[in-house]
Amino acid sequence: MTRAQNPALAAIILAAGKSTRMKSATSKVLHEIGGRSLLAHVLATCDAAKLDPQVVVTSPDAKDVRGAATQFGARTAVQDPPLGTGHAVQAAGQALGNFNGNVAVLFGDTPLIEASTLLRMVEARNSGADVVVLGFEAADPAPYGRLVLGKDGQLEKIVEAKDASKEELAIGFVNSGVLMADATQLFDLLDKVTNDNAKGEYYLTDVVGLARTAGLSCTAIKCDESEVLGINSRSDLAAAEAALQVKLRIRAMESGATLVAPDTVFLSHDTELAADCWIGPHVVFGPGVSVASGATIKSFSHLEGATVAAGADIGPYARLRPGADICRDAKIGNFVEIKKATIEAGAKVNHLSYVGDAKVGAKANIGAGVITCNYDGFDKFQTDIGAGAFVGSNSSLVAPVKIGDGAYIGSGSVVTKQVDDDALALTRADHKQIDGWAAKFRARKTKKSGD
Ligand code: UD1
Ligand code: MG
Repeated sequence: MTRAQNPALAAIILAAGKSTRMKSATSKVLHEIGGRSLLAHVLATCDAAKLDPQVVVTSPDAKDVRGAATQFGARTAVQDPPLGTGHAVQAAGQALGNFNGNVAVLFGDTPLIEASTLLRMVEARNSGADVVVLGFEAADPAPYGRLVLGKDGQLEKIVEAKDASKEELAIGFVNSGVLMADATQLFDLLDKVTNDNAKGEYYLTDVVGLARTAGLSCTAIKCDESEVLGINSRSDLAAAEAALQVKLRIRAMESGATLVAPDTVFLSHDTELAADCWIGPHVVFGPGVSVASGATIKSFSHLEGATVAAGADIGPYARLRPGADICRDAKIGNFVEIKKATIEAGAKVNHLSYVGDAKVGAKANIGAGVITCNYDGFDKFQTDIGAGAFVGSNSSLVAPVKIGDGAYIGSGSVVTKQVDDDALALTRADHKQIDGWAAKFRARKTKKSGD
């Protein structure tokens, strides 16, 4: 269904509750899974389902959350003090302005919801339900609001666990917290919500019973519990990370990447693995990585903010940091760190090197233990290595410095000046040999220890 056929659809994302169980100086919704914050996950899903505008409701002291929300193009609202989920939605009213259309309420701490699920809720609205609630069959329903259905299958009311009767507590179909309704109707219903309940809060969930009393229709649609995992603690965060990783790995394999041991590979929300790339066991992808078709990433490599082109061979034990641009058929071997550097086609940096703020020309060979000395404690400087150059092992290239095309650097050199094309530069001391010295030394020492 295209946007044009649907009424406008706004999102209200609740994030003003206390999050004491995280035991963190950082706001709960700014903790990360898959390389981005919980809030960013929710807002990206809202974007994918074309929910606009988006209003994030925060507590007064959550300046960091408001900053993050604004960065993602969302509006913000403050709820002070937090008097319940219904009260939190009301706090978003002003920021919505004179918006007309549907509104979806989501929780900032429930990051795994899929855009397709929100679109199913839109369909339910379009088929005539005034209020649509997203529910799930809970493995352990204990803490959740119970969805009470009538004989006709319509949603009659939501009863919070603390207010539920014994019969209601036996219901396993529970509220995820996600709800959709016409904005004007929702705010009218919220005006009627009271805090006459076990928690003394203004419950968003009460709008369902009030809607039914007013003759409106309510329906509950179902999703899998894994989609609506709410995060309240570090353990919940780890569980959500695990669930997200499973999804990301499946997505990568479905798009044609080989993951030899998927359970050991960590991906970011935006990791781009092209068809026919090969990822060994225990590879970690931070944000901003793309790997082209035919590239190989061997075990125990760590990549973030890096681009790997077709045919490139990375690892084992390689580290690609932000700005690493590995071109076609280049090789990055074990214990090599690349940062903000372009390694041009067919170049090799095979062992024990640091290459930062640099360009390594096509087919250049960087020997074992070569270091670009890019930092003087204040500023960073550039190293430019020409095409086909050969940098001997254990050399230090003190930036800013330029090595010409086809030049040779003798092993163990400390290069501080430009080296011209096809020249040899070496800065080490001349080789010196003293014949028989070792034998004499040993004889002297053995005699002494025999005394
Ligand atoms: C809520 C639902 C419950 C549902 C459960 C799903 C209500 C009354 N209950 O309960 O039916 O099964 O979620 O996890 O809605 N928040 C605010 N301001 C407030 C209170 C909460 O912004 O004054 C935000 C929280 O930051 C959180 C969300 O609303 O993102 C849910 O709040 P929470 O206290 O976790 O609600 P539950 O009691 O779990
Ligand atoms: Mg909760």
